[in-house]
Amino acid sequence: MFQYHCLNAISEKGLELFSDEYKQSETIDNCDAILVRSAKMHEMELPETVAAIARAGAGVNNIPVKECSEKGVVVFNTPGANANGVKELVLAGMLLASRDIVGGIEWVAQQKGCDDIGKLVEKKKKQFAGCEISGKKLGIIGLGAIGAMVANAATKLGMEVFGYDPYISIDAAWNLSRTIKHSKSLDEIYTQCDYITVHVPLLDSTRKMINKDALDKMKEGVVILNFARDLLVDEEALIEALESGKVKKYVTDFANPTVAGREGILVTPHLGASTEESEENCAVMAVKEIRDFLENGNIKNSVNFPNCDMGSCVAVGRIAITHKNIPNIISQVTKILGAEGLNIADMTNKSKGEYAYTLIDLESAASKEALDELKAVEGVAKVRVVR
Ligand SMILES: NC(=O)c1ccc[n+]([C@@H]2O[C@H](COP(=O)([O-])OP(=O)(O)OC[C@H]3O[C@@H](n4cnc5c(N)ncnc54)[C@H](O)[C@@H]3O)[C@@H](O)[C@H]2O)c1
Repeated sequence: MFQYHCLNAISEKGLELFSDEYKQSETIDNCDAILVRSAKMHEMELPETVAAIARAGAGVNNIPVKECSEKGVVVFNTPGANANGVKELVLAGMLLASRDIVGGIEWVAQQKGCDDIGKLVEKKKKQFAGCEISGKKLGIIGLGAIGAMVANAATKLGMEVFGYDPYISIDAAWNLSRTIKHSKSLDEIYTQCDYITVHVPLLDSTRKMINKDALDKMKEGVVILNFARDLLVDEEALIEALESGKVKKYVTDFANPTVAGREGILVTPHLGASTEESEENCAVMAVKEIRDFLENGNIKNSVNFPNCDMGSCVAVGRIAITHKNIPNIISQVTKILGAEGLNIADMTNKSKGEYAYTLIDLESAASKEALDELKAVEGVAKVRVVR
């Protein structure tokens, strides 16, 4: 029987995927896995029993990842599970920036009680008119889970789509519509596109990537969309570009004192992934990751340990070892198993940065003595009997 604890409310669509072999516990004491959304875990004391933490979402800054790595606790996230929710809001953002839909709706609301509203509308509607997005050029910076979905959807809406991502994953590249033009430089995006949307992570190399230099290269009347992180855009420079008319509209999902209530800027209150479906998708992915790890030792989508897949566990014995990525660990492990007369049927060893993971199928079950010896190897953090 496995025990898991939820630090936040996790969608039932996910939790119902736990089999009868799982019990939800009231506290983290004695649990094998923790599911979390936004709860801050930095001050939390983790019991020795915890082997995995799954964050139903992408960012893991609420989790002490370094400490978890040292203790051999595998931290999972759910990349891409909320991509469709963000994609839909980006499309809405493009439409809202193209016509003054918000201004028009507000104007109609102000005419409440006006008997002549029908006539008045025909006189006043011109001020809210705009353009269509079909036929316009859209530049997408970052073609990951979200960027690729935006690219494919915008193509279907008749836009000419340009994509820039020097580090694109093979999966994302396979999923991209063939009509999307591959831009080899950011300048190509800046100089050609009518709409530019950013979907890169916030890193030192991407911080304020949309700055005065970039804005100067853009077309007059460009629309900029930012549903990734506010610090990707130098918002002071952007406001100057808005005031000069260079930028027509800035659409951002990140409210802050610089952008809130400012003319020409449409701000949504971090609504990108706030959909029922996103929460369900994240929960489903998180539970599947936890189950595959606890039942088979497989790792998919961990932020601190490498992917590892040895399929369903059918061997007589399977042990999982989280350890430091240093020389001589594997030789010590195989020596201990050999000395105990344990034959290795299959084995995978993968590393990710400073840490590594070894999954071993044995032809007979390991004794307590062998497991204790493995735990004592310098650099080994956790030894878990999967079967
Ligand atoms: N508004 C929201 O609620 C919300 C929700 C989810 C994610 N996000 C944000 O959106 C970002 C993208 O999410 P995702 O799920 O698509 O992530 P992802 O990891 O799937 O994709 C990011 C892509 O950016 C690319 N990239 C990295 N550096 C780049 C650079 N300098 N130039 C061009 N491309 C670069 C990577 O190669 C990758 O393909 C996240 O980092 C997060 O900050 C926002």
